[in-house]
Amino acid sequence: GKPPNVYSFPSVSELAPTLRQYVLAQQNAAIERHSTFRVAVSGGSLPKTLAQALLPKGDGSAADKVDFGKWEIFFADERCVPLTHEDSNYKLLKEELLDKINTEELGEPKVFPIDEKYLDDAQEMADQYEKQLVAVFAARDSVKLPGFDLLLLGCGPDGHTCSLFPEHPLLRETAAWCLSISDSPKPPSKRITLSLPVVLHGAKIAFVATGAGKKDIFKKIFETEEGRALPCGLVNEGAGDKVSWFTDNAALEGVSVP
Ligand code: 6PG
Repeated sequence: GKPPNVYSFPSVSELAPTLRQYVLAQQNAAIERHSTFRVAVSGGSLPKTLAQALLPKGDGSAADKVDFGKWEIFFADERCVPLTHEDSNYKLLKEELLDKINTEELGEPKVFPIDEKYLDDAQEMADQYEKQLVAVFAARDSVKLPGFDLLLLGCGPDGHTCSLFPEHPLLRETAAWCLSISDSPKPPSKRITLSLPVVLHGAKIAFVATGAGKKDIFKKIFETEEGRALPCGLVNEGAGDKVSWFTDNAALEGVSVP
């Protein structure tokens, strides 16, 4: 297949305008297709970078408007903790981005957090989250897999993405849309995550990963067989040019990219 797109910048603040343009291009295409923009987001450093890209005032043109009122935001992965807990990806996104949106001007996104009723049972939590996805997506798409317009993901230093970890049996799941994990190597241990087929089925997939701490994993993913078998590598290989990497020069130092 075609290689992924790799965009690299001297710094995160220089990356932000290009990430904005990219997200807006996907937003405008999605709204054109079906009047909504269905996005999945991860935690980690992503919400902060996303805020840098999306919160600045636009140039006033329609194409440069972040039309938050049309956004439906899901969690690519979430920790099984209360929504007010320090470890919650929802809380992180809310504080970094959602609370700072000028909703009067841009509208309010519809956000789909996990249901706190199921915190004690990660599998039940995953099943319930999947039910929400089915309710939203099955009305529009084939019921086989949900069609996210854009997945915004991170890449961990071990090559994990969402909460799909290297060599974990969850990687082999083909039927379920949403999975639970109780032995996550990155704490907290109980989480839910979208499955690999759901990620690969997205219209576009963006990895946002910056800093010198990513150098070693980038080298692996882009240059080695072993790296191609890691979760990030599987998405990178499996989705071809549907994938875009937003990164910085520190992360790519010495890495040969396609
Ligand atoms: C989580 C995150 C996780 C994250 C990666 C990369 O809940 O732990 O969703 O999948 O995206 O670990 O994190 P950084 O962007 O902070 O490196």
